Amino acid sequence: MFQSRAAARRVQTLRSCKRPSLSRPVLNNREITTYPRRSSAVATAHASGSSIYTDDAQHLHPDDLHTDDLPITSQDANQVAVGWDTRTWSRFHNIWLRDHCRCPKCFHPITKQRLFNTFEIPKDLTPLHVDAKPGGLQVTWPSKEPHVSVYPWSWLQLNSYDPPLNRKQESNEKILWGSKIQQSPPTVAYEEVMNDNNHGLYKWLTNVHKFGFSFVSGVPATTEATEELALRIGFIRETQYGKFWDFTSDLAKGDTAYTTLALGAHTDNTYFTDPCGLQLFHLLSHTHGTGGATLLVDGFYAASLMRELHPSAYRLLSEVPVPAHAAGDAGSLYATGEGYPVLTHTGQGELVQVRWNNDDRSVMRGLSADVVEEWYEAIRLWNKCLTSPDSEYWVQLQPGTAVVVDNHRVLHGRSAFTGKRRMCGAYIGVDEYKSKLAVLREQFSNSSTGQGDGLEEQGGKSSGEKERDVWHPLL
Ligand SMILES: [Fe+2]
Ligand SMILES: [Zn+2]
Repeated sequence: MFQSRAAARRVQTLRSCKRPSLSRPVLNNREITTYPRRSSAVATAHASGSSIYTDDAQHLHPDDLHTDDLPITSQDANQVAVGWDTRTWSRFHNIWLRDHCRCPKCFHPITKQRLFNTFEIPKDLTPLHVDAKPGGLQVTWPSKEPHVSVYPWSWLQLNSYDPPLNRKQESNEKILWGSKIQQSPPTVAYEEVMNDNNHGLYKWLTNVHKFGFSFVSGVPATTEATEELALRIGFIRETQYGKFWDFTSDLAKGDTAYTTLALGAHTDNTYFTDPCGLQLFHLLSHTHGTGGATLLVDGFYAASLMRELHPSAYRLLSEVPVPAHAAGDAGSLYATGEGYPVLTHTGQGELVQVRWNNDDRSVMRGLSADVVEEWYEAIRLWNKCLTSPDSEYWVQLQPGTAVVVDNHRVLHGRSAFTGKRRMCGAYIGVDEYKSKLAVLREQFSNSSTGQGDGLEEQGGKSSGEKERDVWHPLL
């Protein structure tokens, strides 16, 4: 139950303004899977580009003008209530609604930036009236010149905050994995990824989103082809290791990656404020030696084990900041200061980032005396989860198979090796990756929330041609 008693009373008051015959609304957390019929037809039309601020809306098919099954609306001094059905209501504050007006005067239709001055909204702003229209909730505001805002029903439902409704959790789409992933690891073909139709690229990035990594097979074993592959996602992120790397075990950089030593499962850049989002690597050759198997571990899977089996240790990993440094080169000195916890969560408690490189850890000078032993026990348990045979996925990479890893989720490592091994690869920023995936979802998604992963292209247009709606779920 999201609803406080006071809120229930408030809705009761709101509701009684117009529909005294309705039973007392009871809000619960169930998913709403269908929108009111008429309004969804309009919301669909709207999402496909027609604007409610043009004449289009005035000339809807007469069938759409029946208002029998539109949501019920009601208002009091501070907020507007929308009844999706007799049991489910959303409440929106007046100031919130005014701030989110997306008419062309308030929100630039091309740049998708707010034009309206939020700070001019009077504290006691109250709509003159609110009306349920096929195109959405229509709010008429008091002002010198009449100002009318229309909020599509589907948009209101998606963005309902009192109570939160139907907001699809990203975590639901993630698939946690252990060593058994070796039976069928996510893979796409290089040719597909490089195809201009973007299908393969979408498949690749969807794999990364779901599993935290994906192989690409059939890549020419050259730096040029590998760099082109990285650039399909976005800008390469230049660091102290350079832009596109082409390296071997010669200690050209002061990091153990440039040796033949074994590397335990770790994430990169724990010493950055913002560790790089993706890491792509490709073994170009390995001659005159053996070893050098690649290790991948799903940090989210290991964390889920920790949360289940050792909740207090999990809490310490989520709270205690761990400082880190990169100091092997004279020309650079990266150090985090206080540092960051091993596990980072959103405000809603969803795990979003794993940072872990025990080799790069600095002095634990911030630990309070009473948790020192407990914290060492927590990382011992964490290490146990990460290194259990059930978690570790070992694979002997061959030239021609590149792998991209979500460095905020999947840890990587390798076994020691002999001989000469030539690797190449690059970092790609997390924002570039997310942006590319969002654009591909616009191109291929078959759901109005932009979350689907079907490969049906929408409207037969590539994303470049399609006009982005002002009510896009990510805006
Ligand atoms: Fe690494
Ligand atoms: Zn406006």
